[in-house]
Order: sequence, then C-alpha cells, then structure tokens
Amino acid sequence: MPFDSSLAFAEAQDAADPLRAFRDRFHFPSLGTPDLVYFTGHSLGLQPKTVKAAVELELDEWAKYGVEGHFHSTNPWYSYHERLTPTMAGIVGAQESEVVCMNSLTTNIHLLFVSFYRPTQTRYKIISEAKMFPSDRYLLETQAQFHGFDPDDAIIEVAPREGETLIREEDILDTIAAHADELALVFFGGVNYFTGQLFNMPRLTAAAHAAGAVAGFDLAHAAGNVPLRLHDWNVDFAAWCSYKYLNSSPGNVGGIFVHERHGRRFDLPRFGGWWGHDKETRFQMKSGFQPMEGAEGWQLSNVPILGMAAMKASLDVFAEAGMPALREKSERLTAYLEFTIDAVAQEFPDARTSLITPREPEQRGCQISMDVAGRERKLFDDMIAAGVIVDFREPCVIRMAPVPLYNSFTDVFTFGKVMRALLAEGESK
Ligand SMILES: Cc1ncc(COP(=O)(O)O)c(C=O)c1O
Repeated sequence: MPFDSSLAFAEAQDAADPLRAFRDRFHFPSLGTPDLVYFTGHSLGLQPKTVKAAVELELDEWAKYGVEGHFHSTNPWYSYHERLTPTMAGIVGAQESEVVCMNSLTTNIHLLFVSFYRPTQTRYKIISEAKMFPSDRYLLETQAQFHGFDPDDAIIEVAPREGETLIREEDILDTIAAHADELALVFFGGVNYFTGQLFNMPRLTAAAHAAGAVAGFDLAHAAGNVPLRLHDWNVDFAAWCSYKYLNSSPGNVGGIFVHERHGRRFDLPRFGGWWGHDKETRFQMKSGFQPMEGAEGWQLSNVPILGMAAMKASLDVFAEAGMPALREKSERLTAYLEFTIDAVAQEFPDARTSLITPREPEQRGCQISMDVAGRERKLFDDMIAAGVIVDFREPCVIRMAPVPLYNSFTDVFTFGKVMRALLAEGESK
C-alpha cells in the first residue's frame, strides 16, 4: 500500500499494527510536551515498565539475604547472567555458548582485541570504516600503539568516495584484497552510528578470512535493530551495548560474541579474572587460570545484579515481540519516515534537507540520518523545543530512529507536522 501524509493514514497503520500494544509497556518521557515524539532509541532506549519491579526485587532480596543471596535468592546472583543468555543469543543469531553479557562495550572490545588482534611485524594492519564512533577509533589507535605500531600506518580507513556520504562495499572489499598480505583484522561497526549504513557482515567476514585476517564487529547500533546471524556468518567476535535498542538502562552491561570455533581455543591470549575461570573449580581459589569454554571464558568479574535485573526485564519484552515481527514493522515504519522527510523536502526545497542513510532496506536498520546543511543546529534545537526528541551530530546531521517496539506511525506523522511547521516558520522570517 502506498504511503500518504494524512493523519488518518498514520492512525490506520497503527490500528493494523500487530505490535501496537507494546507501546504501552514503556515509560515515555513528556519533558513538558503531551504528544512528545521519542526518536532516540538509537542512543538510549526507553524504560520498560517492568524494569522497576525487577530491580526492586533484587534490592529486597539483598536486604533479606545479604551475601546468601548469591545462592539462595529467588534468582540466585551467582548464575544470574546465564538467565540473559538465551534471549541475547537469539537477538544476535548465536549459539548460547557463544554469547555472554558482561562489562561495558569499549571494555569488551579491548578484551576481545587481546585475543583477536594478534599483529606480527608483517601482518598488523586493521581495516575499519572512516568516521567510526570515536570510542572505537581511540580503541584502534591505542591498541595499535600498545603493540608498538604507529596508528596512522596500522589503521586503514575506508571512506566514502569524494562527494558521496556512504561507503561502497566494493571499496571495502578492494581494500581488504589490496592489503591481504599485511592485514590482521577487519573491524567495522555493523551499522555506522553516523549514517545508519548497515554493512554486509557475512561478505566482509568472508573477505577478511580469504585475506587470512580476523573479522570483528561493534554491534552497538545493530543489536536489536537489524537481523543478525553471527554464527552462520562465521564472524570471529563481536560486542554490543544493551542501552540503545535493547532498552536495558543507561550505561548498562553489554554483550559479547565469540564464535564457537574459538570457544575452546585455550591457546589464545586473554586477560583472566575469576568469573572466566572454570566455574566447577572457581571457589577452590587456587592459582592457575583455566578459562571456561565459550564466550563465558572471557568474563572477568561477578556481575552487577541491579543492572542485570533491568536488562532481564527489558530482554523479556524484546523476546515477546520477537525480532522477525520487529524487523517487519521496522522496515515499514522507517520507509514511512523516509517518505515523510522526502515529502517535506519537496515542499521546502530551499531548506536543503536530505537523507544520508541508504534507501535500500537491506542496507539500514531503523535509524535515519538527515543532513540539514546550512541550518546547523537551528532545526534540531527547534525540534527539541517542539517535543520531537532527535539528536544532532556535528557538523549538520540530525539522527532519528522510529523504533518498532514503541514508536508508531502517528509519531512519524507528528514529526512531519512539526518539521513542516518549523520550515514554514523559517521561510516566513
Ligand atoms: C558504535 C559505538 N561504539 C562504542 C560506543 C561506546 O559505548 P560504551 O560507552 O558503552 O563503551 C558507543 C556509544 O554510544 C557506540 O555508539
């Protein structure tokens, strides 16, 4: 069915949406605007209403049991992280043994680099996308330096061609092939945080392997946003956060994936901690680190239960909706936002707003990035003031994500209405 710009159309779409009831399962901030549009799930997901009770339960158990809660509480803390694994494995398309929830994202990537970035004097280069998220860029620079290499020499960035905003896959594949003899690692964001471009992870992984290199991904903007099949794609390792599309609370614990091919490779160097040690003998407290099999062997510390409780509650909501249904709605809702932005851009050609996110559904998730050249922060500031919560990235990009779990077609309609009003106001000045 073709889209149209009327409220009636948006409301009819919502009425027919099989996931519509999930919206009520989240707390929506109002920030003083009754019909606030929250389009920043790519930055921080909303709070599921079940999170509070889940956290309070663990607070009560702590009060009731003290240290005994590790083994005797309702959800014993000793093995709490295991309760998150099945859903998390499903979200990233992994076997349960390949996934564990732990630490924060940047920490986890550093830990995985200990095992998977193993440069030699001749094979030490890392290929990544230009304009990676800064934390990843700092990570690559300091990893290269840690191993005694000059980051400018060791890191090869694939950038969009002159005059283009997206990275061409052929350019990535050509770069991998051209550096095959000196390549240690291909490391990309699954979805680029700035443009929303979704990279073809199976193809990049195959190309990395053909070059004799390892393939790893930062899935901060992919996990819970796009379908993933990390195991089948043969990805070596990956890490992601849980506070964006997985709604687990600000700064909460992330997840890692280590392919089963590596799960029993005890020869791999790794930084050890007692939570990664064989759990059968962990409490013997002896020296001699014996990592557990699978991703759990990369853990360091016992887990933060309050955060994990929030994450378990939010993953339960996610699992109930299911990735296939979420993706189906996501494609349509994102296409509707694209249609709306295009329609407004046509009405106000002087505003020079344009999409930089790929238009092909298979090359994006639900994030749309809009170039507002010439207006800098003005349009963004006005949108926030009007109750449309999007975000701004220098120099002139507004990012937004209609999240299928809790956003609606009516949200997109309201966004279009506000954008039209703001551009009209700008023209009349
Ligand atoms: C793509 C990407 N990588 C890394 C990070 C850093 O995450 P953390 O602060 O959890 O380490 C972020 C944070 O938003 C991100 O978007």
